[in-house]
Amino acid sequence: KLYTVVNQETCISCGSCGACAPDIFDYDGERKAFVHIDGNRGTALIEDEDMLFDLEDALDGCPTDSIKTGVEPIVTADAGSY
Ligand code: F3S
Repeated sequence: KLYTVVNQETCISCGSCGACAPDIFDYDGERKAFVHIDGNRGTALIEDEDMLFDLEDALDGCPTDSIKTGVEPIVTADAGSY
């Protein structure tokens, strides 16, 4: 069970995360990724096995380590941007 959020400061819009985990990640008008299930707030607990598997793929595939995960809700500067 994990919370996740994208650091949009470092995302280079490579598109890997949305391909790996379309149920979690989407892209804004600038092609920056964000967690669409909670508006990139880091507050939605992901419990579904398939989603966690996809999240692992996305984590491994992000070239800039822009995807953060944690067992507690994650507080970010981007919170509430969406
Ligand atoms: Fe950005 Fe990493 Fe996704 S660079 S588009 S957060 S895979």
